[in-house]
Amino acid sequence: MKLLLKLIFVFIFIKCILAQGPYDTLEECQSICKDNNACTTQNCVWYYGWFCSSNTNTCSDDSICTNDYCDPVNGTCHHTPAFSCDDNDPCTLDTCHFTLGCIHITQACNVVVPCNKTSDCFRGRNCETYTCKSSHTCEYQAKPCSAEQPCIEPLGVCVGNPTN
Ligand SMILES: *[C@@H]1O[C@H](CO)[C@@H](O)[C@H](O)[C@H]1NC(C)=O
Ligand SMILES: *[C@@H]1O[C@H](CO)[C@@H](O)[C@H](O)[C@H]1NC(C)=O
Repeated sequence: MKLLLKLIFVFIFIKCILAQGPYDTLEECQSICKDNNACTTQNCVWYYGWFCSSNTNTCSDDSICTNDYCDPVNGTCHHTPAFSCDDNDPCTLDTCHFTLGCIHITQACNVVVPCNKTSDCFRGRNCETYTCKSSHTCEYQAKPCSAEQPCIEPLGVCVGNPTN
């Protein structure tokens, strides 16, 4: 019985030593926990001794359209375009959807397309309907979609939330 008590005592003693935090006082922890990075926040937490816990602000905006960066000097978040969505087509509005990536929304433009028959008017876009008028020029009309759910190329369907 005495031996068992001794063993339990030794066990508890060893456990206390192993669980001891690296810093004895809060002040000691706080002075070491500090870094010169404004993108991290430090916290001293007690668990049988003081531990330094650190969180990093990744500045993530959950959009594939941007590269996110935290300035370590002042903690300011920066979001720069991850890629260009410009398709060099004046008849589409180019934008980036936060999960879909580049989308192109058909918009009005002043390009005159000559034609003899309706099929001459197809210009690779699925968000517009077209006819060849008697004046031998094409007339285009946007597919009916709302501003909140515009038609996106090349799918030719109305999709919601086009902003990033
Ligand atoms: C943060 O620091 C960067 C570079 O040192 C500077 O360009 C930027 O303007 C600063 N932002 C603010 C809000 O002070
Ligand atoms: C329309 O027909 C004329 C005469 O055949 C031809 O010269 C012209 O290239 C045609 N235009 C188109 C857009 O096919």
